[in-house]
Amino acid sequence: MEIDTACVHGSVDRSHNTGAICTPIYQSATFAHPAVGQTNGYDYSRLQNPTREQLEKTVARLEGGYDALAFSTGMAAESCLIELFSPGDEIIASDDLYGGTVRLFEHIARKNGVSVNYVNTSNVEAVRQSITERTKAVFLETPSNPMMHVTDIKAIKETLVDAGAGRGSAQACAGRGQKAPPLFGGVGGGAPDPKDIILVVDNTFLSPYLCQPLSLGADIVIHSGTKYLGGHNDTLAGFLVVSEPTLSEKLRFIQKTTGANLSPFDSYMLIRGIKTLAIRMEKAQANAARIVDWMLKQDKIAAVHYVGLPNHPGIEITKRQTRGFGAMISFETDTVETARQILNRVSLILFAESLGGVETLITYPLMQTHGDVPPEKRAALGITEKLLRLSVGIENVDDLIADLDAALA
Ligand SMILES: Cc1ncc(COP(=O)(O)O)c(C=O)c1O
Repeated sequence: MEIDTACVHGSVDRSHNTGAICTPIYQSATFAHPAVGQTNGYDYSRLQNPTREQLEKTVARLEGGYDALAFSTGMAAESCLIELFSPGDEIIASDDLYGGTVRLFEHIARKNGVSVNYVNTSNVEAVRQSITERTKAVFLETPSNPMMHVTDIKAIKETLVDAGAGRGSAQACAGRGQKAPPLFGGVGGGAPDPKDIILVVDNTFLSPYLCQPLSLGADIVIHSGTKYLGGHNDTLAGFLVVSEPTLSEKLRFIQKTTGANLSPFDSYMLIRGIKTLAIRMEKAQANAARIVDWMLKQDKIAAVHYVGLPNHPGIEITKRQTRGFGAMISFETDTVETARQILNRVSLILFAESLGGVETLITYPLMQTHGDVPPEKRAALGITEKLLRLSVGIENVDDLIADLDAALA
């Protein structure tokens, strides 16, 4: 089944023989047992719910993963991920990351004794040199938010393997219903393996339609499902997709213990959103390419950061590892006044935080998505008062350009 077909049909569970085309919303917190020691497959919705299960199967299928876990938000998914680590562990992370991820790393992971070393992951050698005995994960965004840096996922994986640190594929499967598998010396016991570095990729900006990081060597894929997967700016969601059974067991244990799962209704909303993922991505990225062409001709736009530009340093890597360039654009204006004028004057395009929906949104990273990133770090990355980020939607592109043109005039 091709991925656009899987978006539409991936989630339909035909086993109930009702003929229903769409997955029902199983709005039930708990499930009755036929007899002592027996189950119908579901016990309590924090553990699993049939609607969420169908969504998780679909997302696992789209990413080519062994398993997918659905959470109430992208940050809930990331919070579950960092529970894999123990005091003393270290994460190597891209220096350009969604600000909420930086906040999680700096305020929660660090408090729990997990340190984060930020490096430019586009520089594979810099990643290699940053690996220490304490490194337990490499966490990256590609393209990164908001500067659109591109990282070669396969090359990072090869570097981890060369360093003797890449996670082997032959992990023992603990099997559902057995006792909790050991985490890295944390909950559930078990000795840490210093050679075991997990490669984690936040695939929110591209979606599985454009990129499948597990096929390039990643061990875990993260999504803010709020963005392209949901696609309509109406539902918060998050996902962890894993390549193999041991990670699935560990993360499912944490998920059922900490409990930030996606509700049945929101699971349904995501299933519905994903059905149109392929056509939304195609239309949005075609619009983005046209808007980039227009931006390059504007005197008041000083720089455009878009991974599809021929002079983007990551263009060749992007061509190798994705099906397209996506629909996210960052750009710098000539002055701060121009940046603020655009934000105040757009009318069809909405000045709002988020991305990946059918509506085109414009964001001020300095004040919104990256407001909590330390100012010196923002300045070093180029997140200035003149930087704006555009998440291109699926409207008619001429209307979008006319709106930007009027805002600039
Ligand atoms: C790249 C990226 N990852 C993760 C998140 C967090 O997702 P959520 O807002 O669904 O918690 C966001 C949110 O903007 C994001 O842009």
